[in-house]
Amino acid sequence: MSLLSVKNVSKHFGGIVANQDVSFSLNAGEIVGLIGPNGAGKTTMFNCIAGYFPPSAGEIYLNDEKISGLSPEQCAHAGIARTFQVARTFTSMSAQENVMVGAFLKNKHVATARQVANDLLEFVNLGKFKDKPAGSMTISEQRRLAVARALAVSPKLLLMDEVMAGLNPTEVKETVEVVLKIRQRGISCLIVEHVLEGIMPIANAIIVLDYGKKIADGTPQAISTNPQVIAAYLGVE
Ligand SMILES: Nc1ncnc2c1ncn2[C@@H]1O[C@H](COP(=O)(O)OP(=O)(O)OP(=O)(O)O)[C@@H](O)[C@H]1O
Ligand SMILES: [Mg+2]
Repeated sequence: MSLLSVKNVSKHFGGIVANQDVSFSLNAGEIVGLIGPNGAGKTTMFNCIAGYFPPSAGEIYLNDEKISGLSPEQCAHAGIARTFQVARTFTSMSAQENVMVGAFLKNKHVATARQVANDLLEFVNLGKFKDKPAGSMTISEQRRLAVARALAVSPKLLLMDEVMAGLNPTEVKETVEVVLKIRQRGISCLIVEHVLEGIMPIANAIIVLDYGKKIADGTPQAISTNPQVIAAYLGVE
């Protein structure tokens, strides 16, 4: 059975059609890439899945539970966590405090939330920044901090929006290793990414959006040789 099922989802903003009749599913334990040109509707799809917007049409299920129409907090309780394309780091707070913000959703005790945060900072290789202000960290470190904060809500599914954008090859590799460790923990990942050298080698499947519509869905191998995807996004290399 699918962990996430997106069924005929459309999202309109006035006359703008950001998502149109998009359907796909993701199985438990999978890393799935969501790719496509700028403005294709990738972040909008994340916002629909995580409860930031209700879809204009269609339905979204996590296991058997209908989550479309729920609030972001209800979606988080159902098992969905996300990072944001535009970072929402609390730069003057320590790395530990940033992750505790996520941990408080499921742990009301400060000591427990702090322990969860410390464990997750180690997990994303940021243990040494525990007491440092988040604003002192590199972009790459701040992205992994956002991943740790999202993991602090103990999700079944983690949505990551361009966590590899602007990173150098070493930083991409570090981030990829963290994503692989997340999957090993049994947490599924849906990843919006333009850094294809990061996502293509690790994804179980890739979904391609273009002008709000799904134009392809398949293995990274099949997607990278799909003529429609090459014409819309990949170009000829
Ligand atoms: N809140 C909003 N109000 C109005 N229009 C929006 C809103 N959010 C997104 N859009 C529009 O919906 C379309 C899809 O945007 P979206 O941000 O989902 O694209 P994207 O695939 O994430 O692009 P990128 O790769 O540049 O991040 C765009 O035309 C965008 O301008
Ligand atoms: Mg986007």
